[in-house]
Amino acid sequence: MRICVIGSGGREHALADVLGRHHEVVVTPGNPGIPGSIPDDPESIDADLFVVGPEAPLVDGLADRLRAAGRLVFGPGADGARLEGSKAWMKEVVAAAGVPTARHGTFTDRDAAVAFLESLGAPWVIKTDGLAAGKGVLVTDSLDRARDAVDEYLSGEAFGDAGRTVVVEEGMVGPELSVLAICDGARAVALAPAQDFKRVGDGDEGPNTGGMGAYSPVGLAGDEVVADVVDRFVQPTLDELRRRGINYRGVLYAGLMFTPDGPRLIEFNVRFGDPETQVVLPRLDSDLGELLAQAAAGNLEQVPVFSRDAQVTVVLASEGYPASPRTGDAIVGLDAARAEPGVTVYCAGVAASGDGLVTAGGRVLNVCGRGEDVAAAREAAYRGVAHITWPGIHHRHDIAAG
Ligand code: AMP
Ligand code: GLY
Repeated sequence: MRICVIGSGGREHALADVLGRHHEVVVTPGNPGIPGSIPDDPESIDADLFVVGPEAPLVDGLADRLRAAGRLVFGPGADGARLEGSKAWMKEVVAAAGVPTARHGTFTDRDAAVAFLESLGAPWVIKTDGLAAGKGVLVTDSLDRARDAVDEYLSGEAFGDAGRTVVVEEGMVGPELSVLAICDGARAVALAPAQDFKRVGDGDEGPNTGGMGAYSPVGLAGDEVVADVVDRFVQPTLDELRRRGINYRGVLYAGLMFTPDGPRLIEFNVRFGDPETQVVLPRLDSDLGELLAQAAAGNLEQVPVFSRDAQVTVVLASEGYPASPRTGDAIVGLDAARAEPGVTVYCAGVAASGDGLVTAGGRVLNVCGRGEDVAAAREAAYRGVAHITWPGIHHRHDIAAG
């Protein structure tokens, strides 16, 4: 098949890399670090299968437009993508589906939001209803900070229109798990689970980011846990979407927390996770293109087969990320990192400059290590990281540690 991957980050680089094991791949717009990038209008590209990476074009109806033009598309239409485009709607759907999640309320009125906040214990969680590039969630132990956030969100000051409706929810505590399920509208099959590191700093300090690193497999999530996540979280949601007339063909990504009361849903995303994709897909031994094409056609039969090897990725970020990333710094050491055994580097926020690459976003590179277990994979990833530098570079040192 000729497959067109839509997007421009590390996730799309990993998708292209793994799809490219069996198929011809183009990426649009891609970036100068992803081979096969052609910055073009996806609707003008000829391909047997389209795979949409990011949430924004899905929420915006790109999959619908491509399908209307007769294309085979892996990615939900705007109707299903609303699960990620509106957290308030997502909460309504999962409540109807009976999925276990945190106590929550949806508000546009300040006093009602604050009254609900005050009825909950610490930590307090405030979320934008709309998309905010993974940064619209505040988790805080300070009730004052939570009250201020309600004001900043509802006024539009913090996140524009995305925050004018807020979801306030009970804070949960426990390890997190990302389970990405491939859906064909009726059936769901889970990929190997991953754990993501959301905070910018070591020891989970500092603000939330899009994700600073990940690893797979995850010790706490054996086959039985994953089967339970499909049975109690993913399949009921897919069934509820079907009841609402939504034919959901794409990834349903369940972000879960293992609380003392059992697993709870944090959120659903409607796409592959970034950087989870960079650790899950390279472990796939079976043909990813065939799997996604079957799902896109509503005819999922293949069961994905994963290697026992582990994969770890460390995100290298630019100065100022996540608040205000600086761009334009020359990236040094990429080839040396790639020459290390077991190391792969995926390019995210990069631009071309002369013969080399410069930083062009917050999350710049994903340095991945592969090994026979998580410790060996981690060691490989950090061996790769040690070669790469630019002014102001930062990364976490504790991805997949212990
Ligand atoms: P979300 O965008 O909803 O996935 O939230 C981003 C991150 O915020 C999650 O990965 C969690 O680390 C944290 N978070 C979100 N909701 C909660 C919650 N109810 N309790 C504790 N942490 C949460
Ligand atoms: N790594 C979190 C996300 O993709 O939303």
